[in-house]
Amino acid sequence: DAAPRVFSGIQPTGIPHLGNYLGALQTWVQLQDTFSSILYSIVDLHSITVPQDPAVLRHSMLDMTACLLACGIDPEKSCIFQQSQVPEHTELGWILSCLTSMSRLKQLPQWKMKSQQNEGSVGLFTYPVLQAADILLYRSTHVPVGDDQVQHLELTQDTARKFNKRYGDFFPVPVALMGTSKKIRSLRDPSSKMSKSDPQTLATIRLTDTPEEIVTKIRKAVTDFTSEVTYDPESRPGVSNLISIHSAMTELGVEDIVRQSQGLETAQYKLLVADAVVEKLRPIREEIQRLQGDPDFLKKVLDSGAQTARQLASPVYDAVCKMVGF
Ligand code: ADP
Ligand code: NA
Repeated sequence: DAAPRVFSGIQPTGIPHLGNYLGALQTWVQLQDTFSSILYSIVDLHSITVPQDPAVLRHSMLDMTACLLACGIDPEKSCIFQQSQVPEHTELGWILSCLTSMSRLKQLPQWKMKSQQNEGSVGLFTYPVLQAADILLYRSTHVPVGDDQVQHLELTQDTARKFNKRYGDFFPVPVALMGTSKKIRSLRDPSSKMSKSDPQTLATIRLTDTPEEIVTKIRKAVTDFTSEVTYDPESRPGVSNLISIHSAMTELGVEDIVRQSQGLETAQYKLLVADAVVEKLRPIREEIQRLQGDPDFLKKVLDSGAQTARQLASPVYDAVCKMVGF
């Protein structure tokens, strides 16, 4: 059987928010205790499926590198690299796209959703195939995913099986590592998830937000007309979201929090939540700022990551080419 290897990716589209941290980055850090071979790619090829300003994109690559390091991704344990620096991603992507049917891609919920909002590029349509290439290029066995990516991992699994059937057994069929954390909701509209692309700045808490910004955002978080602190995600999504965040920031469980907050009004409770978020994010924010001041170091981390990734990718891609008949 194939040696265990973890692969995951994140787009260089701005500073991660609390949802990204709890839903993805924290898990990435923890996996370093269990797996000895890990690749975390900052996937710039994926980010240009929608328009990006070149200068902003270039800067976001360094910002995301700083964020991954500040959250605890250790370049001695995990290979952190820029996707576009390893050309085999797109090369394998082409081969895999020739094994994938149009109708299969049309069924994916993200395409249905995103192509409704605007016309949608060919890249946006085929990016799940590039994702399959990202994962299979390293013959990865484990992929941490959020529940919004489960169908894309299924496509990767199908593609691996299809390749193996047509050309001979080669790719491990990777399995999903599902996070256990709850979806963090928008502070302005608790019916939707906290998202990087939310235009309302008050809706998301970024890892670089100052204590003052965090306090303001949580004070202005939408709750409801009941002033008690109770946990009921169905009928009180706003307060419940704050309790989920509070619980994730501390060692406290939801029940502990509700018990300890008896007699508090939501307005008072919000200050406790803000305090917990400020304290948890403080060392991360300070480390991001320190690293942002040292772009040469960040570039060195990315260069060395790309070198490692290329060394792993090249023999896999060569073997694939031989199997395909090139
Ligand atoms: P966004 O929608 O904010 O652009 P991405 O789609 O880039 O976020 O997601 C990056 C990772 O963060 C994924 O693993 C995703 O599941 C996770 N994630 C994104 N938003 C949230 C959220 N609100 N709560 C928990 N996890 C989230
Ligand atoms: Na998403």
